[in-house]
Amino acid sequence: MISYLLGVEFIAFDRCEGGKGKSFVPLIPGETKSQLREPVANQVVTPRSSLALSYGRGKYATKNLSLSPRLRSTLRFCIRACSTDDSFQPQYPSFTYNDSSASRGWGVMGTLLGLGAVLAYHECRCRADQESPRMYTREEVSSHCSPKTGIWVTFGHEVFDVTEFVDLHPGGPAKLMLAAGGPLEPFWALYAVHNQPHVREILAQYKIGELNPNDKAPPTLETSDPYAGDPPRHPALKVNSQRPFNAEPPTELLTENYITPNPLFFTRNHLPVPNLDPDTYRLHVVGPPGGQPLSLSLDDLRQFPKHEVTVTVQCAGNRRSEMTKVKEVKGLEWRAGAISTARWAGARLCDVLAQAGHHLSETEAHVCFEGLDSDLTGTAYGASIPLARALDPEAEVLLAYEMNGQPLPRDHGFPVRVVVPGVVGARHVKWLGKVSVEPEESYSHWQRRDYKGFSPSVDWDTVDFDLAPSIQELPIQSAITEPRDGETIESGEVTVKGYAWSGGGRAVVRVDVSLDGGLTWQVAELDGEEQRPRKAWAWRLWRLQAPVPAGQKELNIICKAVDDSYNVQPDTVAPIWNLRGVLNNAWHRVHVYVTP
Ligand code: MTE
Repeated sequence: MISYLLGVEFIAFDRCEGGKGKSFVPLIPGETKSQLREPVANQVVTPRSSLALSYGRGKYATKNLSLSPRLRSTLRFCIRACSTDDSFQPQYPSFTYNDSSASRGWGVMGTLLGLGAVLAYHECRCRADQESPRMYTREEVSSHCSPKTGIWVTFGHEVFDVTEFVDLHPGGPAKLMLAAGGPLEPFWALYAVHNQPHVREILAQYKIGELNPNDKAPPTLETSDPYAGDPPRHPALKVNSQRPFNAEPPTELLTENYITPNPLFFTRNHLPVPNLDPDTYRLHVVGPPGGQPLSLSLDDLRQFPKHEVTVTVQCAGNRRSEMTKVKEVKGLEWRAGAISTARWAGARLCDVLAQAGHHLSETEAHVCFEGLDSDLTGTAYGASIPLARALDPEAEVLLAYEMNGQPLPRDHGFPVRVVVPGVVGARHVKWLGKVSVEPEESYSHWQRRDYKGFSPSVDWDTVDFDLAPSIQELPIQSAITEPRDGETIESGEVTVKGYAWSGGGRAVVRVDVSLDGGLTWQVAELDGEEQRPRKAWAWRLWRLQAPVPAGQKELNIICKAVDDSYNVQPDTVAPIWNLRGVLNNAWHRVHVYVTP
C-alpha cells in the first residue's frame, strides 16, 4: 500500500525489532517480511543526517533541518528512489529511534502515507503538464513566495511549486526561500552543487507548468530616469533603497564564504552608477607644484606592480537598524550585512603618488579622491584619507581594478576604485576619476557633513559637523549570522556562526558567545585566514557548536569580539546612539526559540 502511494516499487517499510529501539527497514522487490535484514549498523540515521546525501552526493554540507531525523531520512530515500538516476542502489538505511512507544512507528507510517500522496500528486501533475503545460505569468509566480501562498520558483521557462520541498532543502529552508517567487538560476550560478542531473530530476518532480511566452520580462526603467542605466543585481540581495541602489546580502549567505562572491557583496551607492568606457577611461592624478600631473589609462595603471590584498569593507551604517530601535536616526536601515570581504588587486596608491612626485610632507596633508558619479548639479562623490596612510607601503592602499580575480563589477567601481584597508567604506571611492594631495580634508559633503560620530545628546538642532573628526579606522565589530533572530532551532545542539573584524589592521583575538543573555560565555572557534599583525585587513569568520541546555525553550544569543589592542564591543546600543546611526558595534543579540 505504502509503496503504491510512493509510486516506487522497491520501497516498502515495515516495523521490526532491532538493537535498542524499533527500526524501520526498507523492503526490496520480491522480499517478504520474513526475509527482513538486520538494520545496517553504520547506517543508523542520526539527528544530523539529512537529504544532503541524495542531493549533493555527500559533498553538500549537511544541515540540521527542522524535520525529525526519521522523516528526513525517509524523504531522502523516497526522493532518491523517485529519481531516474540509474546508479542509485538502495542502501537499506534503518530508521532507529530509542522511544519505545509503538505509536511513534504508526506516526511514521502516517507521515509516509501523507508523503506518498504528495509525491503521487506531483507525479500526476507532472504527467498532466507534459501533455499540455499550464501557463503562468511572472507576476503570478512572484505572488507565490510564502508558505501561505505556496512557494514557486522558475528554472528556464518552467515553473515549479516547491512548497513541499522547502523544509527538505539540504542548505536549509531559509536559503531556498531566498529564491521564492523568482528564478533559481542566479542562486545555482553561485552554488554550483546544484548543477547536477539528479538535482534537476528532483526539481522536475515539482513542475506545475511553464512561463507564458507572451509574458515579457518586467518593463525596464524610463530612459529619463537617471538610474535607468544601473546594472542588473542579484535577487538574493536585501534592497534597502532602489534609487540610489543600496543592498546587503542576507546574513545566512554572508558567512557561507570567507570571500564574498561579487554578486552578493553589499552595495552602497549615493548616486546613479556611471557607465564608463574602459578604453577611454583616464585617472587624473594632480602633481605637486613643479611635479608631474598624470593622466593614466587602465593599461597605464596595469604597468605599475600588481598588488593583491584581501580586505573587508564595512559601511559606517552597518547595523543601523538596531540603533533605530533606540531612537529614530536618519539613514538607510542596514541590518548586519553592510560588510563584505574580497580579494582586491591593482596598483598601490603609494607607487602612483610617487610617480607623480608626491612625498611625505612635514605639514599635515590629505589625499582627496573624486568619483565619476555625480548628481544633477554635477557634484561628484568624494572623500579623503591622510597622506601618511596613502604613502605608507605597509598600509597597502590600492587603486584596484580587480575584485576576486574579475574586473570590478559596475556597482563596485568599474573600472577603478580606491581600497583603503582597515578604513570605513566611505573612503573607498568607486569609479575613481581624480586623485589630488591637499592641505585639508576633501570638501565633499560625505567627508565633512556625514560619516562622523556624535554624543547621544546631540540632535539635529545642536549638531556641529565641524567639531567631529571624519570616521577613518573603524572600531571592533562582530555579528551573528546564524541562527537568525526569531528562528526556531532544534533542541540538542546549536551552531552559532558569525563574523568579526576590527579597523586599522587590528587582529581579532577572540569572540565570546553567550547563550543566556550574557550570564555565561563560551569562546568561539575562529575560521578563515590567519591575520597578519597590524595588517589584519580581513574579517575572521567564527562558529560555536554548543549543547542547548536541557529544558530551555528560548535562547538569548550574544556575541562580542576582542581585538589585539584589547578593544571590546560595548554591551548596549543606547550609550553609543548617534543621530546619523553610524558606528553601531554593540554586542549583537539574537533571540531564538527551541523546539520542545
Ligand atoms: N564611491 C563613490 N564614487 N560613490 C559612492 O556612493 N559609496 C561609499 C564608497 N565609495 C560611494 C563610493 C560608501 S559609503 C561605501 S560603504 C562603499 O563605497 C561601499 O562600497 P561597495 O558598494 O563596493 O560595497
